[in-house]
Amino acid sequence: MSGRRAAPPAPADVTAMLRAVIDPELGDNIVDLGMAGEVRVDADGRVTIPVKLTIRGCPLRAQIKKDVESRVAAHPGVTGVTIEWGEMTADERTATMTKARWNARQQAGDTRVPLGARVLAIASGKGGVGKSSVTVNLAAAIAAEGRVVGVLDADIWGFSIPRMLGMSDRLEARRVGDAGKPSIVPNERRVGAGLLKVVSTGMLVEDEGTALMWRGLMLTKAVEQFLNDVHWGDLDYLLIDMPPGTGDVQMGLARMLPRTDLVIVTTPAVSAQKVAIRAADMARRSFLRVAGVIENMSSFTCDHGGEYALFGEGGGAALAAEVGAELLGRIPIERAVAHGGDEGQPVALSGTGAAAVEFRRIARAIIDSTPTTADMGGCSARAEDAIPLTLRR
Ligand SMILES: Nc1ncnc2c1ncn2[C@@H]1O[C@H](COP(=O)(O)OP(=O)(O)OP(=O)(O)O)[C@@H](O)[C@H]1O
Ligand SMILES: [Mg+2]
Repeated sequence: MSGRRAAPPAPADVTAMLRAVIDPELGDNIVDLGMAGEVRVDADGRVTIPVKLTIRGCPLRAQIKKDVESRVAAHPGVTGVTIEWGEMTADERTATMTKARWNARQQAGDTRVPLGARVLAIASGKGGVGKSSVTVNLAAAIAAEGRVVGVLDADIWGFSIPRMLGMSDRLEARRVGDAGKPSIVPNERRVGAGLLKVVSTGMLVEDEGTALMWRGLMLTKAVEQFLNDVHWGDLDYLLIDMPPGTGDVQMGLARMLPRTDLVIVTTPAVSAQKVAIRAADMARRSFLRVAGVIENMSSFTCDHGGEYALFGEGGGAALAAEVGAELLGRIPIERAVAHGGDEGQPVALSGTGAAAVEFRRIARAIIDSTPTTADMGGCSARAEDAIPLTLRR
C-alpha cells in the first residue's frame, strides 16, 4: 500500500450511488424522484449533497440520511459527506407525486384486467346505501350503449350481484389458450349491442376443486384472485361492487389496480355523508382518484306527485364539494329500483321512471368522460389529474 488516498469520485458517480437510495413511501430512488440536487465534490473528497424532502419533518429523513451517508462514504475517495436539507416547493412536490403515482401504476402487478378498460369501484363508507344497485344499473346502462362491461362483485361474503342481474349460473374454470392453469370464465349476459361479464362468489360451484380454491381465503386474497385468475377477455369498463366499509379491500385494490377510480355512493343524510367522507379519505391515502359522487335515495315521489326528502337533503352535493369531485347524479327512491333488483332486471334497462332516466344519464356521462385510446396522448396530464387534491397544494 502506498498510503495515497484514492481520487475523489466525480459528482456524476455520486449521483449514480444515490440512485440506490429509495424513498420507501414513494417507491423510487431519490434522484429520479427529484429529491437529490446537484452534488458537489471538493478536491479533498468532501461530498455535499442537497436533498429536498417532500414535506418538512418527513419521518423518513433519518433513514434517507443514513442510507445516503453509508452509500457515499463507502467510496474510497470520499472523506466526508454533508447533506444540505431542503423542502420542496409545491410545484416540485407535484412533479414528485406525479412520478410516484406513475411508478405505482407501472409496478402494480400484472392483473388480467385489460389495460384499456376503465376501472370504477363503487364504494361507500356505510352499508345499505345502494352500492350494488348503482353498480348493476350503471353496468347495464353502459352495456346498453354497446360497451363490454365487466362486473366484479367484491362483496365476497355479502354478494348480491347475481340476484340483481338475474345471473346465478355457476362459474366455469377453463384452460384459455396455452395457459397451464385454468382460468375462471365470467358469466355473460347480452344487453342490446353490449355485453356484461360478471364474476361473484355467489356463482361458485360447491365441488371440491373450486370450493377448495376459495375456502379460508382472506377478503383481499379473494379479490386478488378475481383480478388475477379471471379471464376477462375484452373489456371497455370494469365496475367493482365494493363491500361496505373502507379498509382492506380498497387498499388492496389500490395496490393491485392503482388506476381504479372511485365512485362514492351516499344518501342525502348528513350522518351517511360523514362516513362517506371517510371513504374519500381512504381514497386519498391509497392514491385512488374519486371520479364522482352519486346520491342515492334522494327523494320519494308519492303516487299523488308529492315529493318527500325521506333521508334528508343535500348530502351528495356537500360530499362532492368536500372531496372536490363531481356530483354525478341523484337517484330518487323508487319501488322500481328495488323491484328490478329482486327480479334481476336492472331498472336502467327498460324503466321509464325518474330513477331509470337518471341512471342512463349518469352512464352516458361516464362514457363521455372516459378517454378513448385515441386521445390518451397526454398520459402525464391524466396522471397529474389523478393526484389526490390534498397533495396538489
Ligand atoms: N333508489 C332506490 N329506491 C328504492 N330502493 C332502493 C334504491 N336503492 C337501493 N334500494 C334498495 O335498498 C336496498 C339496499 O341497496 P343495495 O343492496 O344496493 O345497497 P348496498 O350499499 O349494496 O348494500 P350492502 O352494503 O349491504 O352491500 C336494496 O333492497 C335495494 O333494492
Ligand atoms: Mg351491496
